[in-house]
Amino acid sequence: MQEKLQDPKYREINLEALRARHIITPHGENTRSAEEFRMIKRPLLDNAFDPAIRNGNLIMVTSALPGEGKTFCTVNLAMSIAMELNRTLLLVAADVSKPSVLRKLGITADRGLLDLLQDRDLNPADVLLKTNIENLTILPSGRHHKKATELLASQAMMSLLQEMAQRYPDRIILFDSPPLLVTTEASVLASHMGQIVMVVEAEKTPQPAVREALSLIDSCEVVGILLNKTTSIPGGSYYGYGYGYGYGQHT
Ligand SMILES: Nc1ncnc2c1ncn2[C@@H]1O[C@H](COP(=O)(O)OP(=O)(O)O)[C@@H](O)[C@H]1O
Ligand SMILES: [Mg+2]
Repeated sequence: MQEKLQDPKYREINLEALRARHIITPHGENTRSAEEFRMIKRPLLDNAFDPAIRNGNLIMVTSALPGEGKTFCTVNLAMSIAMELNRTLLLVAADVSKPSVLRKLGITADRGLLDLLQDRDLNPADVLLKTNIENLTILPSGRHHKKATELLASQAMMSLLQEMAQRYPDRIILFDSPPLLVTTEASVLASHMGQIVMVVEAEKTPQPAVREALSLIDSCEVVGILLNKTTSIPGGSYYGYGYGYGYGQHT
């Protein structure tokens, strides 16, 4: 244990603190939230290793606009997937302009994705973080860069995605991402994903925004809608597109 704590690439996530923030945790209580994410992850896991779906293990969580719950849902989904036996998960903090994955997990890191994209001498292994959640590895967003979002659509990013998909074919790689209608890079990134989870804030995101966002990701064959902050019974809403899931407001 002491050895681990001294490892610069190891982070201890405070699970109690996560639970207090309504984030599900391995060995946590069987909350409504845990149950909902179990249902959300199931089709994603089924598709991830379906040979008919190209790069099915690359899953991006996105939305039309900021503040709809992308990061909150990504972190919950990551926790839920990490609980699966025999499944390893790489969580990529790719919303580089507003990095909050690590903040939500209560950990910090200097280097990450942006550094990898700019420094050819750096390897993924140099910046990946291991955690006390055994199946979870994290790629932080890295040091702020003024062209951060542009880098997401760079050739270096595409090569990195290919490298990750090939190097870790048995892993789920889950990306938190910028909002589709705010940066063009999010849709470029989306075109390389096997699956997309589109977060829609219930009764808030305007329908034209949802439609426009969906049109930007139509190159991805597997798109699910996650209706976030629903006040009604989960699963009640369905957009008639992809598959629908509901997820309640947890306050
Ligand atoms: N289902 C939910 N229940 C409670 N709070 C939520 C839920 N979804 C999102 N939030 C909160 O709403 C705010 C915005 O969510 P966030 O995930 O940061 O949005 P985004 O990543 O899309 O910009 C955060 O404070 C987050 O904790
Ligand atoms: Mg976010």
